[in-house]
Amino acid sequence: MAETMLLENAAATQALGIKLGERLPENTVILLKGDLGAGKTTLTQGIGLGLGISEAIASPTFTLVNEYHTGRIPLYHLDLYRLEPEQVDRLYPETYWEGEDYPPGLTVIEWSERLPYLPERYFQIALCHTNDDQRQAIISAVNLELDPIFG
Ligand SMILES: Nc1ncnc2c1ncn2[C@@H]1O[C@H](COP(=O)(O)OP(=O)(O)O)[C@@H](O)[C@H]1O
Ligand SMILES: [Mg+2]
Repeated sequence: MAETMLLENAAATQALGIKLGERLPENTVILLKGDLGAGKTTLTQGIGLGLGISEAIASPTFTLVNEYHTGRIPLYHLDLYRLEPEQVDRLYPETYWEGEDYPPGLTVIEWSERLPYLPERYFQIALCHTNDDQRQAIISAVNLELDPIFG
């Protein structure tokens, strides 16, 4: 199950994120894929807006995980760009989606290609550049319905 969307500019990427932030329930994982500059952080900033988070969402490239607790539900924003798979393992990323150690929220993972194992259910959004510097998003749901996003 997958949907393809053309995102004509950064505002469209952000608007998709806002929709996700407004609609997705707690204990949801969103895995983001795409090269540098594909729009992963832009999308996550939209998610933060949709959740009603008051702080600015900055890329956690150096901190690895940023947590935001001022929105409708918590946002856990991970960026695995600089990590080797063994290091990701030691980050115990599952603690964010298992809902035991942290209050259940929305977990968004940039560079999710680096995950050594996957959640049981998740949305995946793959972003890529088009020839004219727009973006294409391929949104799929694994063991989930796409309805919360497109319904
Ligand atoms: N749909 C889009 N069309 C054109 N530019 C976009 C689009 N979405 C995001 N951008 C721009 O791409 C640049 C890189 O985005 P960013 O979200 O930092 O990428 P990533 O986190 O994937 O490295 C930003 O300048 C952003 O404004
Ligand atoms: Mg980024």
